[in-house]
Amino acid sequence: MDRFKVTPEALENFVIEAMRRYGIYEDDARLSAKILVTTDTWGVHTHGTRQLRPLLKNFPMGRLDANAKAEVVREGVAWAHMDGHDALPFVTAHRAMALAIQKAKAAGIGYVSVNNTSHFGAAGYYATMAAEQHMIGMAMCNADPNMVVPGARGKVLGTNPIAYAIPKRDGKPVFFDIATSAAAANKVIRAKLLGQSIPEGWLVNADGEPTTDPSGFPETGALMPMANHKGYGFALLVEVLAGVMTGAKLTEEQPSWVPNVPGNPPGKTNQGQMFIAIDAGAILSPALFDERMDWLADYIHDAPKANGSDRIYLPGEIEWEKREAALKNGIDLPSDVVDYLKGLAEDVGIATLPFEPVTE
Ligand SMILES: NC(=O)c1ccc[n+]([C@@H]2O[C@H](COP(=O)([O-])OP(=O)(O)OC[C@H]3O[C@@H](n4cnc5c(N)ncnc54)[C@H](O)[C@@H]3O)[C@@H](O)[C@H]2O)c1
Repeated sequence: MDRFKVTPEALENFVIEAMRRYGIYEDDARLSAKILVTTDTWGVHTHGTRQLRPLLKNFPMGRLDANAKAEVVREGVAWAHMDGHDALPFVTAHRAMALAIQKAKAAGIGYVSVNNTSHFGAAGYYATMAAEQHMIGMAMCNADPNMVVPGARGKVLGTNPIAYAIPKRDGKPVFFDIATSAAAANKVIRAKLLGQSIPEGWLVNADGEPTTDPSGFPETGALMPMANHKGYGFALLVEVLAGVMTGAKLTEEQPSWVPNVPGNPPGKTNQGQMFIAIDAGAILSPALFDERMDWLADYIHDAPKANGSDRIYLPGEIEWEKREAALKNGIDLPSDVVDYLKGLAEDVGIATLPFEPVTE
């Protein structure tokens, strides 16, 4: 696939300028740009700046409100619930995790849920906020259905992502961030556009039977949960914590955050999200936690390697290495992301970025 180089600074400035044109406040635009561009530096291009164009279209439709601010509506010592009031979802999620961290500083653990919100991008960004404060962070959200469950046919649950981050002394947290489906929907759609088949275990057809032919998706068929009943079980936990507990719209009641998807129920998305911070130094001393984490990381890295393998990664290491390279040499964006950004420039009437084709 073609790739194009852009510097993180240029991409952030472009995102801020595009968001200003939608009437978004400067500080909110800056924070959102940081979240989305960081995601692209990790190489998680499915959930970085690519998401901005469809998300911004929610503002003129009245599904999001640039003047709204999320509000804490109920709280205890270690928990809070926020009404997102359809404010910019990246900013709401950032505030929710910041509050969970603040609660964890006082109580050892903080739990903050949110409803009346929309797409927050990569769940992992918010989990790493806690790790930066020497806390274990978790973030998750429910979503409109795209995924089958064992025994069913068609879409039953969302691809409900779940992420955690764990602090490490070297400043590069262990960081795991996944959808609970076997593969992301846009990986299947990309294969369909390219006329390619997909690996077994990703998709069922209209009859609920496994298929490697993506041509019917997303109109018919459904994504399979990761590891069958195991991914289903985690997706259900996310639906309960982020959906049932928050008052957000559940499963088929929830319109996709992407506007004008065929079959989208009318109204606002009202997605639910959940953020947890656990003070890593509350139960054992911070120094002992770090020492034990270092031991565990070394133990895993030094495990005997399989034939053909020269390295074992901890979750997050691939992303931190990509980020280091992106900050030094620029981000390599795949062509579908570049197309979205060019479309966004056209939507708001600003110059597109000078994307340099990657030749090597
Ligand atoms: N907001 C939403 O509605 C929504 C919905 C679904 C997914 N998402 C996001 O999509 C993104 C991608 O999800 P995905 O399911 O495609 O992720 P994925 O399958 O690419 O897995 C990524 C995770 O696996 C780890 N990993 C990969 N290879 C590894 C290895 N060899 N050893 C150790 N760890 C390894 C990575 O460090 C990373 O944490 C996530 O950021 C998720 O939050 C968001």
